[in-house]
Amino acid sequence: MTNQNKTNKRVLVKTWGCQMNVYDSERMTDMMLEQGYEATERAEDADLVILNTCHIREKAAEKIYSELGRLKKIKNQRAEGGDSTRIAVVGCVAQAEGAEILTRAPVVDLVLGPQSVHKLPEMLRVNGSGADEKLAAEFDVSEKFDQLPKQRKATGPSAFLTVQEGCDKFCTFCVVPYTRGAEHSRSAEQITVEAKALVQSGVREITLLGQNVNAWQDTSSNQTNQEWRLADLLRHLSQIEGLDRLRYTTSHPRDMDAGLIAAHRNLDTVMPYLHLPVQSGSNRILKAMNRQHNIESYFETIERIRDARPDIALSGDFIVGFPGETEADFEDTLTCVRKVGYASAFSFNYSPRPGTKGATMQDQIPEAVKSERLYRLQALLREQQLAFNQAQIGKTLPVLLDRKGRHTGQLGGRSPYLQSVHVDGPENLLGQIVDVKINSASTNALSGDLV
Ligand code: SAH
Ligand code: SF4
Ligand code: F3S
Repeated sequence: MTNQNKTNKRVLVKTWGCQMNVYDSERMTDMMLEQGYEATERAEDADLVILNTCHIREKAAEKIYSELGRLKKIKNQRAEGGDSTRIAVVGCVAQAEGAEILTRAPVVDLVLGPQSVHKLPEMLRVNGSGADEKLAAEFDVSEKFDQLPKQRKATGPSAFLTVQEGCDKFCTFCVVPYTRGAEHSRSAEQITVEAKALVQSGVREITLLGQNVNAWQDTSSNQTNQEWRLADLLRHLSQIEGLDRLRYTTSHPRDMDAGLIAAHRNLDTVMPYLHLPVQSGSNRILKAMNRQHNIESYFETIERIRDARPDIALSGDFIVGFPGETEADFEDTLTCVRKVGYASAFSFNYSPRPGTKGATMQDQIPEAVKSERLYRLQALLREQQLAFNQAQIGKTLPVLLDRKGRHTGQLGGRSPYLQSVHVDGPENLLGQIVDVKINSASTNALSGDLV
C-alpha cells in the first residue's frame, strides 16, 4: 500500500524501561492519534516509528542500536515502495546520548529526551534537517505536562499516572538524575483532573508513578494551602467515585513517612503492596552507593509497614557486584532478603554507567563474580516468591480482571498483592473486580475459580 490510497498515517511506538516510559509512550500515542495517526504494531506499516528508550543498564541502552539496524532495512524497503518512514528515538538514551545518536545512526530523524516528548508533533511538522531541529533535550517538566493532551482514554481497567518526575538523590550507580533531570512534582489539581478523566473512561485502578514517588509534594494548589505529601494525595484521590484501587511506585526508603505508612492502614483503596528498593544489605555498600539510608533504618521502616498492614506484599530491587562488594557484603544482602521475605523482587548485575560516580570507582567486580552472586540471590528470591504465592492457596481474593487469558474462556487479572491470577469466566467480566478462590500457585502466577 502506498501513501496515496491510505487515509491515515500510522505510528508504531516501542517501549523499553520503567513504567514512566510506558506512561510517556501512552501519552505520545494519544498525541499522535490527535494528529490523525492510527496505531500499528508492524514496523512495515508505520510512517512513524517511536522508540522510547531506557539507559539504566548497558544492555538496555545497546538494544536500541540493534533495533535501529532492523528498522533501517524496513525504512529502505518502504522507500522503494514510495513510502517514507520517520524514526524518532525518545526517552532516556535520547537524553543521555543526544546528538551522538544522529551521528551513530543516521537513519534516525528525531531525538527527544523524556521531558521533551510533547514537542514531537511540532518537530515532525517542521521536519528540519539541522541538528537543533532534530534534537530536543530540555528539562522543562511543567511544560511537558501542560502541553500533553488533557484527555486520556483508558486502554484497560488499570492505568499509570505520572505524578513526579526526575530525581535529586544521585545514587552513585544511577543515570536517572541525568536522564530525567531534577525532582519535580505535578500539582494535586492537575493529577486529579487526569485521574477523573481516566475513571470516566472506565479505569478502576491507578498506579501513581515517579522515580521517587513518595517524595511527591504539593505546596500550592490544594484548598488548605498546607503542604501535601503522597498520603494526602492518596486520600484525596480515594474520594473519586469508581476508583477502587490505588498503587504507587517507586518509593525510596528515606521518604517513607509516617503518613504514607498510615495510609496503608487507613485507606481501603491503597493496595497492600509496596515496592521499596534497598539495593544492598551491607551498610558499607549502601554508603558507597549514596543511598542515604542504612540497613537498620530500612528494617525499621519494614517493621512499621508490617505493623500498619500485616499482609502487605513487599517488593524490592537489588544490585549485586557494586564496586568493592565483598563476599561478606553480598551475604549481608542475602541476610536482608531472608529477614524481610519478599513477595517479588528485581535484581541486577551492577552495570557501570557513563557519567556516574560508580563507573570510575576502584575495585570493579568481575562479571563472572557478579553473575554467580546474582544466581544465588535470584534462587532465594524465587523461593520466597513461590512461598508467598502458595500461601494464598485456599484464600478468596478480589481480582481486577484486566485481560483475556491465553486459553479460550480464560481471563487474567491482578490480586491486591499484584500477583497475576488466571480464572475461567465470561468475557463480560473484564474490567470488574471479582472474588476468586485460589487453588494453585506457581512462582509467577495464581489460578483459581470464580466464587
Ligand atoms: N528510583 C528507584 C529505582 C530506579 S532504577 C529507586 O530509587 O529505587 C530501577 C532499578 O534499576 C534500581 O532500583 C536499581 O536496582 C537498578 N539499577 C539502576 N542503576 C543500575 C546500574 N547501574 N546497574 C544495575 N542496576 C541498576
Ligand atoms: Fe536512581 Fe537513586 Fe534516584 Fe532511584 S533514588 S532514581 S536509584 S538516583
Ligand atoms: Fe530506564 Fe529512564 Fe526509566 S533510564 S528505568 S526509562 S527513568
